Amino acid sequence: MNMQTKHTADITNAEESLAVQQAQSKFDSQAATDLAMQNTLLTPRFYTTDFDELDAIDVSPVRADWDQLIAEMEADPNKGHFKKNADWDTVDWDGMEPELKKEFIDFLISSCTAEFSGCVLYKEMKRRGSNADITKLFQLMARDEARHAGFINDALREAGVAVNLGFLTQKKKYTYFRPKFIYYATYLSEKIGYARYITIFRHLEAHPEHRFHPIFKWFEEWCGDEFRHGEAFALLMKTDPKLTAGKNVLWIKFFLTAVYATMYVRDHQRPAFHKALGVDPDWYAHEVFTKTSKLTEQIFPITLDIEHPRWQPTLEALQAANVQIAAGKKAGGFGGKLTELGGSLKAALAFVKLYTIPTVKHRVPESTRLEPAY
Ligand SMILES: [Fe+2]
Ligand SMILES: [Fe+2]
Repeated sequence: MNMQTKHTADITNAEESLAVQQAQSKFDSQAATDLAMQNTLLTPRFYTTDFDELDAIDVSPVRADWDQLIAEMEADPNKGHFKKNADWDTVDWDGMEPELKKEFIDFLISSCTAEFSGCVLYKEMKRRGSNADITKLFQLMARDEARHAGFINDALREAGVAVNLGFLTQKKKYTYFRPKFIYYATYLSEKIGYARYITIFRHLEAHPEHRFHPIFKWFEEWCGDEFRHGEAFALLMKTDPKLTAGKNVLWIKFFLTAVYATMYVRDHQRPAFHKALGVDPDWYAHEVFTKTSKLTEQIFPITLDIEHPRWQPTLEALQAANVQIAAGKKAGGFGGKLTELGGSLKAALAFVKLYTIPTVKHRVPESTRLEPAY
């Protein structure tokens, strides 16, 4: 295999993709890798879990849906898709407004880290497991995420920056999550990822004048992958009804609140990016939450009441607290620390206020499988 000519879009497993990217690492930039290395509440993390417990899952209760999903993934509809072609318009990085450029690069680095975080976790599960159903699924998902991360890195490289994924794999801190937390968090991040990508794609379809970078043209097929990954986690949870009942519903509520709140705050840190897209971040958040909630009804017995009078103002308070934390950090010294501490207390209070909004309850359907409908 020739590493120089093979592209990450054409790889069939995550290891191969890593090797391709390793060969390109001489172009990687320190600053981008440093940013991807950060571990804060708002930056994408790397996860590890109890792989033996995951490996012990028996998918027979969902066998028919499972086999159909795996067959779809094995058919590999997106093989070769994630690379530049004639649709990739020239990007005028030098002419881009500096604030937009900064935010957009930050968005790409954060997205690349998140994609790669999935790749690393899925690849590890595939490597450690012996359950043929589970290892097959995780191999296929790792393949997809490796392509996604590789493609974003291609886009970054044009701007003169790229994330060193091999370095990240070795050096970034891993957060341990019990398997059930991995299901909730990963399921949600796949479904919210689908909702985010498809909302931007549909918006830019209607308003192509706002498509300031060609990567958005790839979002439709992209979110098809994320949708399938989400389906897989829904089926995994379906194998054990306890995961979505009793006290675990409180955990589900916690993860829903954390994932939605994080998205809101993170997106509001990029005003120039959203302005260039012609998207109001409040509208966008509401749209993505609505879609995600509708989708998660396939497996979760509750959804968050995002129409509750306390929801939006509390998200705004959380955002303001986050601005205060950042200002304190920037100021430094004792005064800065106080500002930061005040911000952290306000953020914690806002989170509690969000978490205590009563949920919307509903009956989960017999069959879990969904088709992308947006
Ligand atoms: Fe992905
Ligand atoms: Fe995914």
